[in-house]
Amino acid sequence: MMRLDKYLCETGFGTRSQVKALLKKGLVSVNGESEKRPERKVDERSDTVSCGGKEAVYREFTYLMLYKPAGVLTARSDRQERTVFDLIPAELRRDLSPVGRLDKDTEGLLLLTDDGALAHHLLSPRHHVKKVYFARVQGELEEEAAESFQRGLDIGDEHPTLPAKLVIRKSGAESEALVTLHEGRYHQVKRMFQAVGCEVIYLKRLSMGSLSLDGKLAPGEWRMLGEEEITRLKKEEGSRNGAGDAN
Ligand code: URA
Repeated sequence: MMRLDKYLCETGFGTRSQVKALLKKGLVSVNGESEKRPERKVDERSDTVSCGGKEAVYREFTYLMLYKPAGVLTARSDRQERTVFDLIPAELRRDLSPVGRLDKDTEGLLLLTDDGALAHHLLSPRHHVKKVYFARVQGELEEEAAESFQRGLDIGDEHPTLPAKLVIRKSGAESEALVTLHEGRYHQVKRMFQAVGCEVIYLKRLSMGSLSLDGKLAPGEWRMLGEEEITRLKKEEGSRNGAGDAN
């Protein structure tokens, strides 16, 4: 059993004060009956809670998609800098961890969850779950670069990179491309472009496996994942031969 206000926070309806306001407005019902008391106890396994006509589905784990803006760190806390945890309500922060990191100046899709098994599955090099990035770079991009990405690049690590797909969208003094990777090394996209003579000036992650950044989210906004998105992610198995890559 848990308090109704906590239940609503944990199912993604807002911060404690936001859900208290929703309760006060009479927007919440428990088993079909209007309920205004935040302290009302509900059973997360058997009670049906709705808010504004939308069912508040309780899950064992929390899965949240954040549109990480540039300028914030993928870290729990930092003395000087803002972090991704500053962007999500305190009630949700406690057990969540980001699934992989984005650099401070990179924006885009960041999944946060307390489902350690799923995080491990998505990050494990064995599974090769694909990640798609949009990059703007300084320098011309020729088809030769796409071939190098496909062959694998020496980026100063022990092993060359796994085959990656580069789809050039624009080439000139500044060029644009989509990159699909099946691994996630430190600064990998930036180092791969460096290896072909270009410097990344803007980088955005568009997707991770089957999960794409929601076009309705603005930088800094987040939402809970839907049931289907979670089910698809759990079945995720990447491929190294490029099936489903960006094009
Ligand atoms: N590759 C990078 O270089 N930076 C990121 O943030 C993500 C992938």
